[in-house]
Amino acid sequence: MTILAASALTGGIAIITLDNPPVNALSAPLRASLLRELQQALADSAVEAVVILCAGRTFIAGADITEFGKAPQPPSFAELFALIEQAPKPVIAAIHGTALGGGFELALACHYRVAAETAKVGLPEVHLGLLPGAGGTQRVPRLVGAEAALDIITSGRQIRAKEALSLGLIDTLVPDGNLRESAIAFARDVVARGSARPRARDHEVWTVVDRKRPVIFSDFAAKNARRFKGFAAPDAIIAAVQAAVDLPFEEGLARETALFEHLVATPQSAAQRHVFFAEREAARVPDVSADTEILDIRSVGVIGAGTMGGGITMNFLNAGIPVTLVEMTQEAIDRGVAVIRRNYEATVRKGRMSAEQVEQRMGLISPGLDLATLADADLVIEAVYESLDVKREIFGKLDRIAKPGAILASNTSFLDLNRIAEATSRPEWVIGLHFFSPANVMRLLEVVRGAATAKPVVATAMRLAKRIGKVPVLSGVCDGFIANRLLAPRGAQAEAMMLEGTPIDAIDRALVEYGFAMGHFQMMDLVGLDVIGRDSTERTVMGELVACGRLGQKRGAGYYDYDDTRRPSESGITSELIRDVAATRGIRPDATSGDEALLARLLYPVVNEGAKILEEGIALRASDVDIAAILGYNWPVYRGGPLFWANQIGLGRIVAEMRELEGRYGEAFCPTDLLVRLADKGRGFGETA
Ligand code: COA
Repeated sequence: MTILAASALTGGIAIITLDNPPVNALSAPLRASLLRELQQALADSAVEAVVILCAGRTFIAGADITEFGKAPQPPSFAELFALIEQAPKPVIAAIHGTALGGGFELALACHYRVAAETAKVGLPEVHLGLLPGAGGTQRVPRLVGAEAALDIITSGRQIRAKEALSLGLIDTLVPDGNLRESAIAFARDVVARGSARPRARDHEVWTVVDRKRPVIFSDFAAKNARRFKGFAAPDAIIAAVQAAVDLPFEEGLARETALFEHLVATPQSAAQRHVFFAEREAARVPDVSADTEILDIRSVGVIGAGTMGGGITMNFLNAGIPVTLVEMTQEAIDRGVAVIRRNYEATVRKGRMSAEQVEQRMGLISPGLDLATLADADLVIEAVYESLDVKREIFGKLDRIAKPGAILASNTSFLDLNRIAEATSRPEWVIGLHFFSPANVMRLLEVVRGAATAKPVVATAMRLAKRIGKVPVLSGVCDGFIANRLLAPRGAQAEAMMLEGTPIDAIDRALVEYGFAMGHFQMMDLVGLDVIGRDSTERTVMGELVACGRLGQKRGAGYYDYDDTRRPSESGITSELIRDVAATRGIRPDATSGDEALLARLLYPVVNEGAKILEEGIALRASDVDIAAILGYNWPVYRGGPLFWANQIGLGRIVAEMRELEGRYGEAFCPTDLLVRLADKGRGFGETA
């Protein structure tokens, strides 16, 4: 049997070391071991104080998320924490790495918290659609006040040890690498001073103050309404923190438990837990084993300093990796570099970066006009406009310039990567790295594997993604890869409905109500209609808008008109263009109304496309499709992505409704074989049984 918790006694101090790799999640077996060790230590007359310490990379990083939503296994958190809190001897948590969620709640139930300087603490349950259900919402407000507690718990942010100390969440900071000895010394000191056992539950200073200011809660909810929109957990957190202020500890705890139990049973939380594991699963490529060689990427070349190239460059600068940025003209390179600087300066104004950090990052760029300067780059990313001929020409040149062993990547968003690779004599070194706009912000990176791409190149790209803060999703080669292809039918339906006379703001509103940050047309305007525009033989509204200079938000006009604060309003010009294009194409007015009908029309074809992407082996797994939609297109995380959402609706119902829509609107609604097969078997995407 694996030993999860073990004790050692040194000079009257019992050290209980927990060891449950990789992150010491507080699973039922670990709770049981810890309970046993604690009981023994507390019963041992030679023990004067107890230190709880973790082996490996981190202190307990939370409850075991896989246990949520299942029948609770003993011992409960409450039982364990009560033993600690009521212990007749001081219990001290010694924290390194990240003490998160249930792990930090355990530390809060201890009498003291000693943390290594680089440690971080936090309550990230909100990201799982939950609240901290083991006393976190009751103990934190007592230690730091309701306002700080609301910020900490609704943001789920990781708090550095230094800030945690100044807030009063921990008692002392100790040097890294010396945690064990320092915690023992701390424990001895506590014993020498009379073994006081302060408990967070008994702190009254803040609750007395906060009780006099009930507006804190309504103000906080109002101020953050936009951020919390659609999510259930933040409101529950506010209610729980209010209970901490208003009620005695045990009653507040009971309220917290009730709120937690409600949240854990919601589809939202199930969706967010699905996303947590899906993000991590996405990095795994079944036929590329964990021991595949990873190439060292120390310098990067980026070709093209436009919107995409600039954003891509910033990712590497942020990670401290130097970038040689190449453009065609001096003017273009100057403009590209200036935009990067401006972006950083905006971050400085928001207080999220120092002027010095900007200079450090800017100092990592080597701008130039000559592809030959890329000869030493370990990775070159081409980010020029979407023309197969241009890209093939560039890759042909790169083939002659780049050193052997360099990875040659294209940021193409829909072109055939294999055709690009064929322009080189080394297609095994060619890969797609498809960033999403704005490339320095969006977390999705589609790693496109060509027919010849070598495994170390795939493995390196997946690893590199994490290094630059992205979540990689592996895609095969097809038009649009995963995310763009998946969402294209949504765009097609939005445009079809627009031409049938459905107001574009009604379409956008249905999507926003569903949980998207913005609607289809708002998004097109944001990205820029000229950036998206593809050649089309048909007259399109987008083409017409571009032709008359309505390129989107950046020009103050696209599908919508924009005022100085970028607020959209309906445009008479666009409405007329829509009527005109509809008339030339012979489309009869047939507006769709009602959110449910609009959503079925907009999103069922996305589900269907996801099924096709799986059927063709373009995506490795259903959850990758969900991640691509969530991180590439801001699909609402609390819906879990299109395929998770489809599972929740029931594939049988979707197939039935699609057949009806197919009768009316045609082929776009013809359910694909996989969808029908799963529906017939009563199964969902990604379900094996
Ligand atoms: N329960 C179960 N498994 C967990 C877990 C938890 N609380 N936290 C992490 N894991 C697993 C991950 O799924 C991953 O498993 P895998 O290797 O099989 O994919 C592994 O531990 C490592 O996690 P990962 O996130 O890849 O490592 P990291 O070093 O990048 O980050 C943490 C470490 C702790 C910061 C991060 O895992 C995290 O935020 N965990 C969740 C914390 C949380 O939400 N706790 C609240 C629950 S009460």
